[in-house]
Amino acid sequence: MSSLVVIGAQWGDEGKGKITDFLTEKADMVVRYQGGDNAGHTVMFDDKTFKLHLIPSGIFYKENPAVIGNGVVVNPKALLKEMDYLKEKGISTDNLKISDRAHIIMPYHIALDEIKEKKRGDKQIGTTKKGIGPCYMDKYERSGIRFAEALHKDTFILKMKENIKAKNELFVKYYNAEPLDEKQIIDEYLEYIEILKPYICDTVELVQSYIRNNKKVLFEGAQGTLLDIDYGTYPYLTSSHPTSGGVAVGAGISSFQLKGALGVVKAYTTRVGKGPFPTELDDKVGEFLRERGHEFGTTTGRARRCGWLDLVMMRYSVNINGFNTLALTKLDTLADLEEIKVCVAYENNGVETNVFPASLEDLAEYRPVYKSLKGFKKEEIDGVKEYDKLPKAAKDYILFIEDKLGVPIDLVSVGPGRLETILRKDIF
Ligand code: GDP
Ligand code: IMO
Ligand code: MG
Repeated sequence: MSSLVVIGAQWGDEGKGKITDFLTEKADMVVRYQGGDNAGHTVMFDDKTFKLHLIPSGIFYKENPAVIGNGVVVNPKALLKEMDYLKEKGISTDNLKISDRAHIIMPYHIALDEIKEKKRGDKQIGTTKKGIGPCYMDKYERSGIRFAEALHKDTFILKMKENIKAKNELFVKYYNAEPLDEKQIIDEYLEYIEILKPYICDTVELVQSYIRNNKKVLFEGAQGTLLDIDYGTYPYLTSSHPTSGGVAVGAGISSFQLKGALGVVKAYTTRVGKGPFPTELDDKVGEFLRERGHEFGTTTGRARRCGWLDLVMMRYSVNINGFNTLALTKLDTLADLEEIKVCVAYENNGVETNVFPASLEDLAEYRPVYKSLKGFKKEEIDGVKEYDKLPKAAKDYILFIEDKLGVPIDLVSVGPGRLETILRKDIF
């Protein structure tokens, strides 16, 4: 497949970083198309662990461009910190490319994210407080600042002045908060742009040139389908389009140039932040999954909420994204449980449905209907490299999910490392 997108099928943290890194071996370019440093993608190989937030997980193959597309919102300070972190670990960032159309996260976006969360009280979204929502707000309100503007010093200073003035008015008059220091922000950001200048370019032309020349382009989604601004559990979601529809607008390609969508599905479900979660487990099994799966946020360190795999949600995710292949991750985390449950429908007052609702009020009324499957042992799955060598109960679990969703699970992940991966069929 010449162009493939890797998408989180659930609420994020499915293992997109690991899968993107695994597939990058065959790619000529890796492109992020939405979100920002709210993402936390973990890549592990050669006994080393890397946590990435903004830089595409393809950066480890230094001959390939790693592209931050126009749909991404970029905090330059966080980006420079991440570049230094990689350089210290001996990873070159020379092939990083930043879209001149990408919007810049400013300190007032971060301040506003914090203030708004506080004001929401018990209706908090539980954002990562990275300024993501407020930056996208300004983008759509048409007052945002892109790298294209930042490259013109006078325009950049003027736009920063206008925006800082407007935001300070809001902070002081409406939120009763402290104003931000205009001079400090301007000086700081002029310096950031100066350092980032060599990496900023027209990534639309770049990505198009790769696609035109039949090169393999891998798009790396951040967040997850149920966090999509249109399709997620509104308003408990992020402000971008992690779904396959987001690739075209966020990376500068046409929908017809995307040849496949790979859904990354965790073998159970996790969610970090607030919002509904029908299969959440508030018991010993939930705790077991959190401990065994090290389910603590890569970006914020918060404990992730854990629950069983939800096939109602997955069916919705498959439909929206058009997944033609799936990667099932963290199968090893389920090991040693005697029984594995899977939600196959929702039920309310004796009526069953397999349709994921828009309304959170409706969702709250639904109870999951479970199918129970047999568990398998850790020693049976540890180090397994071939599908046929997996224990029967694990294969039954995989086949059950495939059958219910009608999409093949071509990749199975049984550990965090690059090599702890079973490829059943070539997908890229
Ligand atoms: P992402 O945001 O989708 O890239 O996922 P994160 O990196 O935030 O969270 C996934 C976590 O699970 C990371 O700590 C990975 O190293 C880890 N991981 C990924 N795949 C597997 C797997 O198959 N088994 C285990 N045990 N851990 C995995
Ligand atoms: P990766 O790419 C999991 C969640 C936050 C919060 C909501 C809104 O690592 O899978 P935001 O800061 O985006 O305004 O927060 O979205 N969230 C994520 N949850 N994985 C992520 O990214 C997430 N990025 C944002 O916890 O509930
Ligand atoms: Mg993550």
